[in-house]
Amino acid sequence: MNLILMGPPGAGKGTQAALIVEKFNIPHISTGDMFRQAMQQGTELGLKAKEYMHAGQLVPDNVTIGIVRERLSQPDCQPGFLLDGFPRTVVQAEALQELLKTLDKRLDAVINIEVSRASLLNRMGGRLVCRQCGATYHAEYRPPKQPDVCDKCGGEVYQRADDAGPTVEKRLSVYEEQTTPLIEYYEQQGLLKHISGEQEVELVFQDILKSLGA
Ligand code: AP5
Ligand code: MG
Ligand code: ZN
Repeated sequence: MNLILMGPPGAGKGTQAALIVEKFNIPHISTGDMFRQAMQQGTELGLKAKEYMHAGQLVPDNVTIGIVRERLSQPDCQPGFLLDGFPRTVVQAEALQELLKTLDKRLDAVINIEVSRASLLNRMGGRLVCRQCGATYHAEYRPPKQPDVCDKCGGEVYQRADDAGPTVEKRLSVYEEQTTPLIEYYEQQGLLKHISGEQEVELVFQDILKSLGA
């Protein structure tokens, strides 16, 4: 199964991705997670990504396309993959199409999670993430059992730097301007699955499985 998971910042992509990859046993490829990991490790990529991410802007296409190209060429993507948060621009979508052609793969579906602006603000405002394993929580809706400690790995749970104040607004407007054209792009290819993200996590997941005929 070769899948793309789309949706605005805070829609629940990471949350659903964890369930989808477990079900289909495919790797979860989140460009945001890859950049955050590089930032933590202080690599050159991390340093480059940091200024864009903290400003709520997109990392330049050539950088992002490069890391996805490398990742999709790994052998564990042979049985399939789930892209989370990539592509985000038409240039990235076109590069992906070329890349998949050279790898002799094709997309099965593009899942688009739809959530209202009010809920997005709520979700990002309360989001907590594990520094160690990346598991996602919400202060109100899905708190970790012990405050500030990850249920899964015991790691420290923190608030993402880009989930605060004006950066959130910037991310939402960048999404509107640069990423929403992809909805039409994949609609035209007959790949788009519209999913309401305004329901409980488990119900969103059930709708995704139904849309995939699984
Ligand atoms: P990225 O990390 O991808 O961030 P994003 O797209 O803004 O999306 P989020 O991770 O914020 O939200 P999500 O949809 O995963 O929601 P989650 O499951 O966590 O990218 C970050 C930055 O990296 C970008 O701004 C950019 O700078 C750079 N970048 C990344 N990819 C790039 C690309 N392709 N090109 C260029 N730059 C790129 O859920 C959110 C919260 O809601 C959580 O607290 C969760 O517990 C809660 N929640 C989830 N589902 C539900 C539900 N059904 N009900 C109630 N609460 C829920
Ligand atoms: Mg995410
Ligand atoms: Zn953890």
